[in-house]
Amino acid sequence: MKNLHIPAICVHAYGGPEQLQLEEVPVPAPAKDEVLIKVVASGVNPIDWKVREGFMQHPLPYIPGVEAAGVVTAIGEGVFGKKIGDEVYGSVDGSYTSYAVVSTEVLFRKPAHISFEEAATMAGARTAWGALFDVARLTKGQRILIHGGAGGVGHFAVQLAYNAGAYVIATASPENIDFVTALGANEVVDYKAAPFETQVDPVDIVFDTVGGDTTNRSVAVLKPGGLLLCIVEMPDPEKIATAGVRALWGGTKTLASMKEVHQMLERELIKPYVRKVFQPLSQAAAAQEYSKSGGPGKGKIVLKISEE
Ligand SMILES: NC(=O)c1ccc[n+]([C@@H]2O[C@H](COP(=O)([O-])OP(=O)(O)OC[C@H]3O[C@@H](n4cnc5c(N)ncnc54)[C@H](OP(=O)(O)O)[C@@H]3O)[C@@H](O)[C@H]2O)c1
Repeated sequence: MKNLHIPAICVHAYGGPEQLQLEEVPVPAPAKDEVLIKVVASGVNPIDWKVREGFMQHPLPYIPGVEAAGVVTAIGEGVFGKKIGDEVYGSVDGSYTSYAVVSTEVLFRKPAHISFEEAATMAGARTAWGALFDVARLTKGQRILIHGGAGGVGHFAVQLAYNAGAYVIATASPENIDFVTALGANEVVDYKAAPFETQVDPVDIVFDTVGGDTTNRSVAVLKPGGLLLCIVEMPDPEKIATAGVRALWGGTKTLASMKEVHQMLERELIKPYVRKVFQPLSQAAAAQEYSKSGGPGKGKIVLKISEE
């Protein structure tokens, strides 16, 4: 495939969705311990539009996207355990493209029972696992409130907390209550009907995937010594000290957490849900705008790039 060019979304300057340019780029060659995958689907995460708008720095120009599912089409030197034709998914830096090179370390075999679109959403599961278990050390019987239980991270967090034997309370819009209940939540709170603080008895842990005023307001529902686990923003330290609770940043990204959620996926203990599929690649701007607007639905947003 040397000298061939492929379609990819490129960002040359921070800004609005118009910065997502569909261009032709050279097909990358896999280096040692890497494979080339044909990208079938890319996850669309809130971080994609946040980086594009310049809230987080990324060297320019760049191809957006952090995760994908696809098919192995070429193998680099020293690669074991992957072959051409394998269906895979995992962390892909620059996944809004039709072909990408990926280190085999962060690539997993796609289970046959899930689609490429579903497999392209698993970064949310890794985030949830890292926060709940690496950081918060969630254990059986603990009471946890998960904000955003229908979202890309939240819908995995509800399933993982349920599997761990926790008592799970989640917040969701009224149209998502049945969905979040089916994921394993013991209680689902309609945060639009009344302030969640008036609907929830004290909990050991709040996992906040929402941010804004939800973060500081969550202090009110924690037991003394309870933990506010944050992945969007940290609370006011004075509020934390006054209430006698703790706050920790939950955004860890370890290989171990990817392996954990992969095993759970294979054993069908967790299931990814796709909120909306945008296709083809030229719909990247629409997908990011939908993500930024908090477009309604259950699970994660996906950009479908090619047919398998
Ligand atoms: N630090 C990290 O490592 C890390 C990693 C991943 C994600 N994040 C961040 O975590 C956040 C969530 O990511 P995501 O992929 O889950 O986003 P998402 O798919 O857009 O989900 C967010 C969910 O929040 C719910 N929501 C909105 N306002 C709410 C409110 N006031 N109270 C309760 N729920 C509310 C919505 O559900 P309803 O439709 O039911 O209202 C929505 O489904 C983003 O800000 C993202 O950047 C951080």
